[in-house]
Amino acid sequence: MAHDRFSILILAAGKATRFKSQHSKMLHQLAGRPLGEYALRSASAASPERLYMVIGHEAEEVQRAFERPGLVFIEQKEQLGTGQALMAARPELEQCPSPLVLVVVGDSPLLRPETLRALAEAHRKNRAAATVLTTRLANPQGYGRIVRAKGQWIRAIVEEKVATAEQKKIQEINSGILCFSRAQLLAHLGELSRDNAQKEYLLTDLVEIFNRHRLSVAAFVVEDSSEVLGVNDRVELARIEKLLRLRKAEALMREGVTILHPEAAYIDADVEVGPDTIIAPGVSLRGQTRAGAACRFDPYCTITDSSLGDRVTVRHGSVITGCEVGSDVTIGPFAHLRDGAVIEPQARIGNFVEVKKSRVGRGTKAMHLTYLGDATLGANANIGAGTVTCNYDGEKKNPTFIEDGVFIGSGNMLVAPVRVGKGSYTAAGSTITEDVPPESLAIGRAPQTTKEGWVRERRKGPGGGKPTP
Ligand code: UD1
Ligand code: CA
Repeated sequence: MAHDRFSILILAAGKATRFKSQHSKMLHQLAGRPLGEYALRSASAASPERLYMVIGHEAEEVQRAFERPGLVFIEQKEQLGTGQALMAARPELEQCPSPLVLVVVGDSPLLRPETLRALAEAHRKNRAAATVLTTRLANPQGYGRIVRAKGQWIRAIVEEKVATAEQKKIQEINSGILCFSRAQLLAHLGELSRDNAQKEYLLTDLVEIFNRHRLSVAAFVVEDSSEVLGVNDRVELARIEKLLRLRKAEALMREGVTILHPEAAYIDADVEVGPDTIIAPGVSLRGQTRAGAACRFDPYCTITDSSLGDRVTVRHGSVITGCEVGSDVTIGPFAHLRDGAVIEPQARIGNFVEVKKSRVGRGTKAMHLTYLGDATLGANANIGAGTVTCNYDGEKKNPTFIEDGVFIGSGNMLVAPVRVGKGSYTAAGSTITEDVPPESLAIGRAPQTTKEGWVRERRKGPGGGKPTP
């Protein structure tokens, strides 16, 4: 519909002074996503005609993190305030087809797309030149305060730094989210100056400027004030992280996942978990992890960007990164799977076993103290305790092949490249350097020498001296 056409401009160029960080605040992780991602997704879900993001501090990195079709980046070379961010956007705003422009601060991650649409709607209904999304906070410290005129109209926004004691008592605050009639914004943007206590171009000064021109500025109050909470330092980051994590845990519980201690489950926003899965305290499910139904995650396992089938058990303290795990697999305790390991259904990976860039076949077991790197294991093989695939020759990584039904004895060194053929056995303590054909026994160790009575002989020697072994 023509009447609710709007574009959105996200402000994300700031220097993150209060974060005391070298990096852009937009890139700090919040519940598994960079902070800026939240405002971006909400803005995008509100279906604007154009979506712009003003970047400055660490512009290259920020652009790389958020690049997507339909998003236009605008660079603000110096960071001299939110008003200057708007000034940097002037050329794009002049070309913008929408009658309305919504300005959104990039550090309000809980903002909902419905609220953005409602703001545009209220703006239109009031026939205002600008509309400020406001809310009331019990503790408004740090936010710009709303100085009301009569009715829904606003006379000014006063920033904390310049507010009088009386103004500081005002509980209605500026969310940093405003709707402008594009023509009025462009007509008066040039009137902003740095002639204020902050020596910055403050976008909030536009309210007084508009009032001076007898252009009306309306307030649109959002009831759930948590929606517009800003993330200005790491204390606020942690507060919002806690809230988002609880929301995620609650959503999963409603879908049939048991979470024993929701405050102590660290489940990123994009993670999927099937019903009847049980998640213990201290479990981290990160990134793009997907787990099936009826899995069990014991305390302190960390699973990142991995996909797991149904009925997978991951026991205490295991770390799984970038792997694929089939159904009915048991992993750990204290196992480490990484770099694209594929564990086929019904396999078992036990304690202190590391698997890297390897495929472990269906029903195969590696239960104790083992390293499998660049290896391909068939089905139903058994890997003895303390086995190592010696994959690295100092220059390159070499492959090991262990075919179906192989039995590798305990304490084997498999010096790659090497292949152990179908159904073969290797003796305990072997160093296997040559391929073993199918259905064979390979023994690669020094034959045992036993010197019977050696100790007795030594005792008899001159002066109780030692016999040479
Ligand atoms: C801002 C508002 C304040 C409001 C609060 C709500 C101003 C002057 N103040 O204050 O009234 O209550 O948000 O959360 O607008 N940015 C740029 N370029 C710059 C400076 C900032 O793009 O030169 C971006 C930041 O990256 C950030 C956003 O603008 O995403 C807001 O900046 P921030 O410094 O956090 O403003 P606040 O002090 O919170
Ligand atoms: Ca802020």
